[in-house]
Amino acid sequence: MSISDWVRSEIRAMAGYQPGEQPAPGERVVKLNTNENPYPAPPEVIEALREACDPQCLRRYPPPDAGPVREAAARAFSVAPEQMVVGNGSDDLLTMVLRTFAGPGAVVAAPGPTYSLIPTLTAIQGAEYQEVPWADTGEVPVAGILAESPNLALVVRPNAPTGHACTLQSVAALCRDLDAPVVLDEAYADFAAEDGLSLLASFPNLIVLRSFSKGLSLAGLRLGLGFAQPEVATELHKVRDSYNVDALAQAGAVAALDNLDGFHEAWDAIKAERQRLTEALRERGFEVGDSQANFVFARVPDGNGGAWYRALKERGILVRHFDQPPELADGLRITVGTPEDNDVLLDAVNDIASP
Ligand SMILES: Cc1ncc(COP(=O)(O)O)c(C=O)c1O
Repeated sequence: MSISDWVRSEIRAMAGYQPGEQPAPGERVVKLNTNENPYPAPPEVIEALREACDPQCLRRYPPPDAGPVREAAARAFSVAPEQMVVGNGSDDLLTMVLRTFAGPGAVVAAPGPTYSLIPTLTAIQGAEYQEVPWADTGEVPVAGILAESPNLALVVRPNAPTGHACTLQSVAALCRDLDAPVVLDEAYADFAAEDGLSLLASFPNLIVLRSFSKGLSLAGLRLGLGFAQPEVATELHKVRDSYNVDALAQAGAVAALDNLDGFHEAWDAIKAERQRLTEALRERGFEVGDSQANFVFARVPDGNGGAWYRALKERGILVRHFDQPPELADGLRITVGTPEDNDVLLDAVNDIASP
């Protein structure tokens, strides 16, 4: 017997999730690879974090169910605190959802290509992942998902890595027709024209997930919010780690939720730059879909996404390239940075195209 014989077969068989690369501290790069917000959180948030660094507070465990965060979110989004669960990032919420609804042998379905953590979490559960291609119109392929008879369906809106947003009507149609929970992953909702929180009142099987890593500039704190019916939230609380959101993260989350107005300027700047980047890349021969997120997915002129990724990296610019699935391999997912970051990227694109 060797150690690998002791490992569960599902774990041995899987490769593990590949997060985007993070430069070493002090390394100078233009970082457009993991969809962080290029602007910091408002000063009120940073001040709240400083205050939370009190040794007497840090000596103690934080509220296990992140009650203060749920109350702040209830104020911000007009939902009840009992409808919420807080995660150590929205990835943690995805883990909770999979633990709750997808045991060994369950079927998990999602329109794809989509967020590559979902199949990994499904594999960890010993469940079966069925990716159903997005409709040509970009909508949720409702009939295709129903045909898989899933125990759980997930829709990412705006989707990663394509950036497109299906209509809320197609999410509603899935919730209406599927006799199973539907997770709407809205990690990028702050950059979209509309969001699906209002659907919660109509569909008891809907769970909406939000992240603080993109719009709210707090990727380093690891925070996410899950919204659902109170009975669903109660089940999700059972499967979370006992103190899954630390005291600093809770303080930062409350301040961010109490100061949402302070983020709007950054969101507007990012949306304006998204438009400029989209047009500039199209002028340079890239095929770029309309994005409602803080990144664009750009198919490169010669189809060799890997070569472009490496050429940009040599010039100190990190973007994300997926060699799997094959339909993504000719593209680059590029985070919308500051105007200066985006200029550096566009200059490098010119340089690579005509050296
Ligand atoms: C679609 C999607 N959902 C969830 C996440 C995870 O976000 P968090 O940092 O809150 O765990 C990401 C991160 O890139 C994402 O792209």
